[in-house]
Amino acid sequence: MERRKFVAAAAGAATAAGQAAQGAGPVREKPLRDEHWGPLYYDAAEKAQVDEVVDTGVPFRFTARRGVAPVKVATYEREFATKIGTRYALALSSGTAALECAMAALGVGPGDEVIMPAWTWHSDCTAVVRAGALPVFAEIDESFNLDAKDIEARITPQTKVIIAVHLQGNPADLDPILEIARKHKLRVIEDCSQAVGASYKGKRLGSMGDIGTYSHQESKTITSGEGGMLVSSDAELFERAVRFHDVGNIFAPHKAMLGETKLAPFVGTNFRMSEFAGGVMLAQLRKLDNIIAAARTNASRVYDGLRGIPDLKFRLRPDPLGDLGSPVFVRFDTKAQRERFLELMKAENVPANGPGGSVILPIQSYIENKIAAHPSWPAWTSARGKAIRYGAASCPRTIDILSRFGGVPVGPKYTRQDVDDIIAAVRKAYPAALRT
Ligand SMILES: Cc1ncc(COP(=O)(O)O)c(C=O)c1O
Repeated sequence: MERRKFVAAAAGAATAAGQAAQGAGPVREKPLRDEHWGPLYYDAAEKAQVDEVVDTGVPFRFTARRGVAPVKVATYEREFATKIGTRYALALSSGTAALECAMAALGVGPGDEVIMPAWTWHSDCTAVVRAGALPVFAEIDESFNLDAKDIEARITPQTKVIIAVHLQGNPADLDPILEIARKHKLRVIEDCSQAVGASYKGKRLGSMGDIGTYSHQESKTITSGEGGMLVSSDAELFERAVRFHDVGNIFAPHKAMLGETKLAPFVGTNFRMSEFAGGVMLAQLRKLDNIIAAARTNASRVYDGLRGIPDLKFRLRPDPLGDLGSPVFVRFDTKAQRERFLELMKAENVPANGPGGSVILPIQSYIENKIAAHPSWPAWTSARGKAIRYGAASCPRTIDILSRFGGVPVGPKYTRQDVDDIIAAVRKAYPAALRT
């Protein structure tokens, strides 16, 4: 359908649904479910991949058995790099492992500082602390991602890396972040764990920084239950990541990617992906664009259906076309209004939530109190590590923003009725919450 006609039709449907919702009783009889996307798409393709590994008895990515060579993880890496638009990709056991490999690749260690948003998942911080470096937190903006305007004040001569995290499907505003990084000669990691497949200004997330990292844990766009990925187009960074992920080794598939290896082994760990996970991820990757297209179609119907509500403000989206679309967040002036909105939405059987899937890192007790696995761990033993203050006072804007947004998940498999119900419920609950 032509876009203008579609928008008009969506608005019409929304109005009708909104009018119906003015009547007694909730918009829905049963609560709308919030399902994680990847497993919804499991079918014969994933089954065939797993069966093949069982049938061939080749579960380890680097060892052939009975003349059968393992190919699944290696194929997955090649197809992932092509999809993202980088030269190299390294499959890993988790998104946390990917961040730890990124630290090792970039040579982050004691004395270094790494800037990240105050609101993100633990792993961005734990990877830095486990490397022996100092985590430094900057405020977020109303995209819920790193606010580029708050980065420069946090830079010191020890700053080495900025982690730009793309949260809840929504790309961070990368252009100003990359400009600051270039100006101060800093490296950029894009943590795309919560936005696998999303893009910014036409380029896939993960391809614009020095390194991109991804999670394949169950709640992510595509999943093997656990898993992760690291991408880069820099041969040296990639070789360092590969060696770190496999106790200093580098084997045939990665040698073939690089053409030649240049580095001596150094101390690493084991973050390898199994052929089972590789097979499932290969099947999931081949569905990624369909999953994203379905999610975006439903989300854009919700956005279109909500437009026109007086004073309505959405979460900031630096590139709406690159956003995965879900959840759709609306803004309130006060926390009390947001809380009322959540209550009203629950009563409509269309549950809404505050921003989720991350934590406010500076107020986590282990960070506020600077507790590593060993008291002499170098992260917080330097003069700067001792002096830095975390806690709520270090990120007031982040805490305020997160307290004033409510969002509705929009799944790729939601029906037209589900989408209309979301629109109707928000049209009913939002103005009522504003009156709180
Ligand atoms: C932003 C972000 N980074 C890193 C991770 C870590 O990924 P994993 O759970 O696969 O270790 C997550 C997981 O939720 C995440 O949301």
